[in-house]
Amino acid sequence: MDKKSIFVFLTKQKSIIMLKDKVLKALNDQINAEMHSAYLYLSMSAYFEDKGLNGFANWMKVQYQEELSHAIKFFDYINERGGRVMLAPIEGVPTEFDGIIDVYEKTLEHEQKVTGLINEIMNIAVECSDHATQSFLKWFVDEQVEEEANVTELLDNLKLINGQGNGVFMLNRELKSRVFVDETKAE
Ligand code: FEO
Repeated sequence: MDKKSIFVFLTKQKSIIMLKDKVLKALNDQINAEMHSAYLYLSMSAYFEDKGLNGFANWMKVQYQEELSHAIKFFDYINERGGRVMLAPIEGVPTEFDGIIDVYEKTLEHEQKVTGLINEIMNIAVECSDHATQSFLKWFVDEQVEEEANVTELLDNLKLINGQGNGVFMLNRELKSRVFVDETKAE
């Protein structure tokens, strides 16, 4: 291959490998959204600590760790694809809530919003014919189904016990045992 052919070959390779601007922006925005989720759940954890509900606080702290791992998964993917990670300021989060049920209603609402964001990035990846990003996002599509199901189950249980009394005591004890497992590293 002469020099010109090598140049053309490499340019073509680059155009295949590089992330399109629109996809890159969506992925960078999602790093921010995941960090914002982490910050929100840490705030909820602090709220529960203040109420003496250490099991619920632990559940939220694990949730916070999960969100950080999601942000890093996007961070690593952008770097792997030769894109530039650009970190933006993280939006503030509420610090006060109206009881346990309110916290979990807001958590479910938040996860539904995140599901919408993931679907939107998938739409962009499809529109840009970026098959690698579609494959990468599949993990998050599945993860969101699980996240929404977990929060819905917890919320249903809380509603059954009206968010108070002995049931809360039992649930608080149960949630103490939740530990963070980095699912982003699983195959
Ligand atoms: Fe990163 Fe809870 O979704």
